[in-house]
Amino acid sequence: MSETHTCSILTRSPSETAAVGEALGRLLRGGEVLALVGDLGAGKTCFVQGLASGLEIPEEAYVRSPTFSLIEQYEGRLPVYHLDLYRLSDVDELESIGWRDCLDGESVVAVEWADRLEGYLPVDYLAIRLVSKSPEEREIQIAVYGRCPAWWGGLTDGRARHEQD
Ligand SMILES: Nc1ncnc2c1ncn2[C@@H]1O[C@H](COP(=O)(O)OP(=O)(O)OP(=O)(O)O)[C@@H](O)[C@H]1O
Ligand SMILES: [Mg+2]
Repeated sequence: MSETHTCSILTRSPSETAAVGEALGRLLRGGEVLALVGDLGAGKTCFVQGLASGLEIPEEAYVRSPTFSLIEQYEGRLPVYHLDLYRLSDVDELESIGWRDCLDGESVVAVEWADRLEGYLPVDYLAIRLVSKSPEEREIQIAVYGRCPAWWGGLTDGRARHEQD
């Protein structure tokens, strides 16, 4: 399925990146798959930490990357799976971590190193690419693949971001 909607946001600090994640987290309705890509230290985990806050995951549930377990589950206002596939040895391992079970249509699924999921992503997902522009600057490129979520306009018309101010 081809890319239909995109937006790009420049952030100048980790807290700004988290704020974009938080704004997105507030909009999600459940069942969204967020495929995060970007180099080491690009800010994927930082973004997911903001997302967790927007999804009302309690602050005590410290959200860090499941680097060794590959998958972590949280309960916010929606169920959330956070995956980090950096150490995925091969796609067969996806089955043992329950990748298909994550795609239950209700949970939000945020995947770091989603490039490892080539061929295993659902038809509908959001691609989120973080690009380092300088030590403190990141470009967050968001693209919708498949069906455009009803809330998309809330992210792109700036309202969601201004809620942070
Ligand atoms: N604008 C910014 N947004 C996000 N992080 C930033 C920004 N500027 C600097 N940083 C720094 O970049 C790093 C981002 O780390 P983070 O763990 O979120 O990256 P990551 O993409 O998850 O990396 P990894 O692939 O190793 O898991 C942090 O050290 C953070 O302080
Ligand atoms: Mg990370």
